[in-house]
Amino acid sequence: METNWPDENWVEIGDIHDIPVRGARCVKTPQGRIAVFRTAEDHVYAMEDRCPHKGGPLSQGIVHGTSVTCPLHNMVISLETGRALGADEGEVRTVAVRNRDGMLSIALDSLMLMVAAE
Ligand code: FES
Repeated sequence: METNWPDENWVEIGDIHDIPVRGARCVKTPQGRIAVFRTAEDHVYAMEDRCPHKGGPLSQGIVHGTSVTCPLHNMVISLETGRALGADEGEVRTVAVRNRDGMLSIALDSLMLMVAAE
């Protein structure tokens, strides 16, 4: 997901190759842990590393297509929307990601908005 945030709002978090294909890495921010996912097609998504069910670490889940399955009780979350799929209900806050030639950044403003919404 890319948005038009001004340049100063983006925080570099590393290279796409630091994330395993169909895997994730966890980035610590002042607002908590953010899971950054890489799909088989090299699309990158970020969201809170906290399952809406019971707080499981989504960064340790299995990525398939544009979804991740929580490692604790198998809830499936859309990487695009942060919403639970299937019969489950719940939503994870997503964070904007920018991919410039493989260098990834997340939008600081979206983290600020997360705090403002709490
Ligand atoms: S904590 Fe994720 S499915 Fe239960």
